[in-house]
Amino acid sequence: MGQRTVNNMKLEHRAPVETHARLDALLSNFEALGRRNVGYPCNHDFDYSALLPFMQYCMNNVGDPFHDSNFRSNTHEIEREVIARFAGMMRLDRDQAWGYVTSGGTEGNMYGLYVGRETFPDGVVYFSQDTHYSVVKILRVLKARNIMIKSQDNGEIDYDDLHETIRINRDAPVIFIANIGTTMKGAIDDVAKVRGILDDLAVTNAYVHADAALSGMILPFVEDPQPYGFDAGFDSAAISGHKMIGSPLPCGVALTKREYVARLSRSIEYVGVLDTTLAGSRNAMTPLMLWYAFERYGMEGFREMVAGCLDVAEYAVARFRDSGIPAWRHKNSVTVVFPKPSGEVFRKWQIAPYGDIAHVITMPHVTRETIDEIVDDCLRHKSERGG
Ligand SMILES: Cc1ncc(COP(=O)(O)O)c(C=O)c1O
Repeated sequence: MGQRTVNNMKLEHRAPVETHARLDALLSNFEALGRRNVGYPCNHDFDYSALLPFMQYCMNNVGDPFHDSNFRSNTHEIEREVIARFAGMMRLDRDQAWGYVTSGGTEGNMYGLYVGRETFPDGVVYFSQDTHYSVVKILRVLKARNIMIKSQDNGEIDYDDLHETIRINRDAPVIFIANIGTTMKGAIDDVAKVRGILDDLAVTNAYVHADAALSGMILPFVEDPQPYGFDAGFDSAAISGHKMIGSPLPCGVALTKREYVARLSRSIEYVGVLDTTLAGSRNAMTPLMLWYAFERYGMEGFREMVAGCLDVAEYAVARFRDSGIPAWRHKNSVTVVFPKPSGEVFRKWQIAPYGDIAHVITMPHVTRETIDEIVDDCLRHKSERGG
């Protein structure tokens, strides 16, 4: 119950009993589902209770986090620290870095493509068959000319097809979407090879956006990462906040270079901000959550978390294979691919099927015991069907 006085009138807000019953049921449902969510890359291990008091305030990060705003109940300062942290991880000089906390991977991809398209309005966007579905949608919104390139069976882009297709369209600038961890197979497009193709074809007008939704929080923490980061040739990157980091509210980071954004910015008098972000009003809680996660774990904590996830992924591949199920994964990937299991198994474990394959993503809440249970379920249902 909440009681407030407005214009000398006492206002009581009491939700009916049934409402509480419904909320309780919803909570129990989430409680039951959490541990068995192994098909989507959401880390369920977190504790943001220290941030609950902030839910009492009307906070809004409207506008550019690197610029003042008339709306002062914001977390812009914290957001700038989050961007600096990601810039360091993605090997972008902090003085050159610009970015903001987005609503998720889709907005981050949209930002990258927007900057790419503004940089090269006549550019052709190249992306692979395995690129996340958000990109095709964004290209429709932007009405950007684009060509889908074939993928290899392992999910990585087909470099020969890319080379040949760019060669045919050599007169147009290139805007390339690099998959730094594809959704289904965790494949990483080799940006060094792509830059090599551009050099070979003497294409100098090129922009590379990296969709690093999940692996942007893995590669910075491993000993021998595939080429990633702005030093490998990225011009922008999108990384998710609700995946490896574990944010209960979907969010992400859009990262690019200050010089590109300077061309896009407009000043808005009403809110006293620079209008550089896609959304106007923006979530002020999610930057706080990302910042708090790094305060809590530190880089060393995330290194340990990622190492643990990779260890369970390795165990999963071995455990599936020992049971006669041909599973595999890419180097530095927590995405374990295996043949699509029966409907009972993928419904129970919230496994994402795609054609004749499926995957388990070994996020921090997925343990070796969880993998044992999944493999046992796969075998049981297979034998029940006489498979
Ligand atoms: C590779 C990749 N890119 C982008 C996204 C889009 O993220 P969101 O659902 O946060 O918009 C996802 C989501 O799973 C993804 O796997």
